[in-house]
Amino acid sequence: MKIAVAGKGGAGKTLIAGTLARFFAKDFEVLAIDNDPSMNLIYSLGMNPNLRNEITPISQMNKLIEERTSIDGSDSGIYNANPSVSDIPDKYKIHGPDNLELLVLGTIDEPNTGCFCAPNALIRSLLADLILKRNEVVIIDFEAGLEHLGRGTAKGIDTMLIITQAYRKSLDISEKIIKLAEKMSIKKVFLVGNNIENDFSKKVIQEWANEQDVDVIGYIPRDPKLVRCEIESKTPFDAIPNSEAIQAIKRIYMKLKEFYVNYS
Ligand SMILES: Nc1ncnc2c1ncn2[C@@H]1O[C@H](COP(=O)(O)OP(=O)(O)O)[C@@H](O)[C@H]1O
Ligand SMILES: [Mg+2]
Repeated sequence: MKIAVAGKGGAGKTLIAGTLARFFAKDFEVLAIDNDPSMNLIYSLGMNPNLRNEITPISQMNKLIEERTSIDGSDSGIYNANPSVSDIPDKYKIHGPDNLELLVLGTIDEPNTGCFCAPNALIRSLLADLILKRNEVVIIDFEAGLEHLGRGTAKGIDTMLIITQAYRKSLDISEKIIKLAEKMSIKKVFLVGNNIENDFSKKVIQEWANEQDVDVIGYIPRDPKLVRCEIESKTPFDAIPNSEAIQAIKRIYMKLKEFYVNYS
């Protein structure tokens, strides 16, 4: 199972990716991948938050990048665009609760340039390796743009969850991601309606999803308890497991599991 989580900044990707990873990790081996520049997935996974300052994201491991991508040992600007990377996840992953491991990829400073520089080559190759070759459940917290997804890699993603809120800017970005996902032949796209205040916001998302011809896998209510967790630096999965939001994410987890059983 390879699950990518995408959507507008602030939509709830990190909360949802992290919480799903925790639910999956009770039953499966899980590799959670942080591919967002803010690198805060660790907080929603409930791992020691002090670790965050000790982690160097792969995208900033300059020596490793140079070692793997250099061709002639000079700084001629020529580099290997398909470096060997399969040993990297096991070397740099960090152990979390249950059967959970975290790998922090980070991103490149200029995400929108799509530059074909050496760090990008390494991240692209790593994502391909993680999505096409690993046996674990892989859950990726993506930056909005999906820049690092090559076409061949995207085909290995079983499910893309697009986290959406019921307002124009969020829906616009979701629409772009849906189009991109289609173009890249990602197998299945589901919408997740987050921050749902009332039946009206639910209806807005449902009607929009119908127009887009995409299924909504679940709705997560706006839950003030989450704000409290944020302020107190607590992980919702551990601190408020019975809250409406975490229970809603649990139902999404069950549906995903069911989806895979029927699908494979
Ligand atoms: N359903 C919700 N109810 C209340 N607050 C939420 C909800 N979902 C997310 N949040 C809060 O919104 C903020 C952004 O969420 P986050 O998961 O970091 O978004 P993203 O990763 O998409 O930028 C966080 O403070 C999070 O706790
Ligand atoms: Mg995030």
